[in-house]
Amino acid sequence: MIHSVVVGGGIMGSGIAIALARAGHAVSVVEPNECARARLNTGFAEHRWPSPELVPSVGADLQASAAADLVIEAAPEHAELKRALWRRIGTVAPETAILATNTSSLDVDDLAACVPNPARVLATHWFNPAYEIPCVEVAPGHLTSSAVVQHVMEILAAAGKRPVVVGNTAGFVANRIQFAAIREAMLCVQEGASPADVDEIVRSSFAPRLAALGPLANADLGGLDTYLAIFDVLRRAHGARFEAPAMLVDLVAEGRVGTKANAGVFDYTPQSARALAMLRDDRISRVLGAIRNEQGT
Ligand SMILES: NC(=O)c1ccc[n+]([C@@H]2O[C@H](COP(=O)([O-])OP(=O)(O)OC[C@H]3O[C@@H](n4cnc5c(N)ncnc54)[C@H](O)[C@@H]3O)[C@@H](O)[C@H]2O)c1
Repeated sequence: MIHSVVVGGGIMGSGIAIALARAGHAVSVVEPNECARARLNTGFAEHRWPSPELVPSVGADLQASAAADLVIEAAPEHAELKRALWRRIGTVAPETAILATNTSSLDVDDLAACVPNPARVLATHWFNPAYEIPCVEVAPGHLTSSAVVQHVMEILAAAGKRPVVVGNTAGFVANRIQFAAIREAMLCVQEGASPADVDEIVRSSFAPRLAALGPLANADLGGLDTYLAIFDVLRRAHGARFEAPAMLVDLVAEGRVGTKANAGVFDYTPQSARALAMLRDDRISRVLGAIRNEQGT
């Protein structure tokens, strides 16, 4: 059990606190806003806990970090606010405490420069709702020690998460992909599609496939030569943002057109290619079956 302090108890901080507490850690949440603190207390009281002593404590005083093993900052995504807050965290938290930011887009090194011993600083980027979504992107800065990365990966894995180390670049991996999709969804609405139709189309087309396999394995199953041809049409219709990536052009030129060639982004044997398609179909069927059951249809 470690003592973790979550600084900022909004959408993400409250979820991270629940996830860590559910894993058996002592959790304190530091939240300056009185209404937000009341919301946290209500939310925690309504939550189902395995035992009452797991319920995170809620307070306004950053001094709670003085006894922390791990501090996770989940304050608003404003660089200046975060820098000021990190300077304060750096003076209060023990120099041995691991300091993590939940930033979606800001530079880890910039925050690490605000505290003593930047080797213990990294980003842990959780997803909403943090107590349900398994992935946590772990982004070390330039100075982060590998022992700190390893320790955080172990804490997250033991909490039932799927931590993945990513590079310290704006948006890491998930938000670059997610925000590209959100941008196109909104452009479709701007150009005349109804918001409800856009959501329904995504929900009942490629979203269940993405719940089954990642976009790259899905592309291998779809055929990379076909994808390249589609990119070409999209680029001519919608402009440079649909330029096919060099990786796709090269793979197709090498004949690595996906599972049908036993080689695409990934390598396959005829057996593993068949197994992947069956896995996709099975998972899609179970995801859609669960939704149909929930809807009673
Ligand atoms: N919302 C998401 O889906 C999501 C997903 C992943 C990461 N993030 C990141 O997580 C962080 C928090 O986002 P959020 O969506 O929870 O925001 P939020 O606005 O819901 O919560 C932020 C909380 O921080 C509090 N706060 C303000 N100033 C503070 C300070 N000086 N010290 C401590 N707390 C302070 C606010 O009162 C608020 O309750 C951001 O960096 C954001 O980019 C958000």
